[in-house]
Parts: sequence; structure tokens; C-alpha cells
Amino acid sequence: MSELSIEPLRADMMLAMRRLARSVAVISCCDGERRYSMSATAVDSLSTEPPSLLICINQSSSMYPPLAAGADFCVNLLAASQQDIAIDCSGRLKGEARFTSGDWQRSEQGVPYLDGAQANLLCTQDGRFDYGTHTVFIGKLREVKLSGDIEPLLYLDGAYTTATNAATSA
Ligand SMILES: Cc1cc2nc3c(=O)[nH]c(=O)nc-3n(C[C@H](O)[C@H](O)[C@H](O)COP(=O)(O)O)c2cc1C
Repeated sequence: MSELSIEPLRADMMLAMRRLARSVAVISCCDGERRYSMSATAVDSLSTEPPSLLICINQSSSMYPPLAAGADFCVNLLAASQQDIAIDCSGRLKGEARFTSGDWQRSEQGVPYLDGAQANLLCTQDGRFDYGTHTVFIGKLREVKLSGDIEPLLYLDGAYTTATNAATSA
């Protein structure tokens, strides 16, 4: 495909992806004492045999270096009430300041997790591959914590919403 035809395709892809409703997560990890977090929607279950997840991380993000060095990570699935945390962890706050937003704890292995998220999926890093600007990291599930009712924060059409709002505005 020529370089000229890539731009319209990229624009069409972005328009199409606005129609893909995603649950919003915050990925967290650490590098010794230093903690990292980032809002993400490119997160999915990979397999239940073994229980595993994948996350797609931009190589320009601040949490890429610790992940590339092999850090374990947690996928924190946000509740509808946690939109502020999603905004903080996607740029409004930087670095350690992101951990002033919400109740952050550490697992026995030292991985930061967001207490009160709908779910915390604590993973051991078990593989990765690079593709374009991103790296896919595979996490072998180690522990799951659940909290509250099923009321996810969603991202749809370039905006945060909830399952109730998405259903009533359809
Ligand atoms: C709703 C939403 C979903 C996002 N999903 C991802 C994602 O899956 N992977 C990714 O690398 N960045 C994603 N981002 C972008 C990062 O959250 C953002 O670039 C963040 O500021 C990167 O962290 P840094 O500032 O510490 O480098 C998303 C942003 C938003 C608002």
C-alpha cells in the first residue's frame, strides 16, 4: 500500500473505533519504589487456559520502560464513578501524582492496585511482542479482586459514558 493511501485509512479506522464501546482500565506497575499508571482501553482477556490478559502499550508512554524491563502489572477495571481517575491517569496528572487520585494499595508482590476499582487483575508478565508504535504485553493472571456491582466506566465515540447512558442514548 502506498504512503499516500495510509492517511485516509487511518482516519477511517479512527472513525470505526469510535463505535467500539470499551471498558476503561488503569494499568499499574512499579519499578522498585517508583510507581506508574496509565488509562487504557486496549486491554482484553487472552485465554482462560492459562488465565491471561493482554495490554497494548504505546512505546512513548512513561510506563513502557518498566514494562519493557519485565515489570509485573495490574489491570484495574474502573467503575462508572471513577471517571476522574481515568482523566488523571491519561494526562491530567503525571507520574507519582496519579497515585493521589483514588485509594492505591500494593499487592504482596509490591504491584500497585486501585482499591475500589470494579476489578483488579494482578498479573505476572509472561510475554510481549512489538507492533508499530505499540507493544503487546501478556499477563499471566495471579490474583483477582472484585468490588461493588457491575457498573463499568465506558469509552464510546470519543467520550466517557456508562452502560445506562449508552443504552438510553442509543
Ligand atoms: C480512554 C483512553 C484510552 C486509552 N487507551 C490506551 C491504551 O490502551 N494504550 C496506550 O498506550 N495508551 C492509551 N491511552 C493514552 C494514555 O492513557 C495517555 O497517553 C497517557 O497520558 C500515557 O501516560 P504518560 O503520560 O505517563 O506517558 C488512552 C487514553 C484514553 C483517554
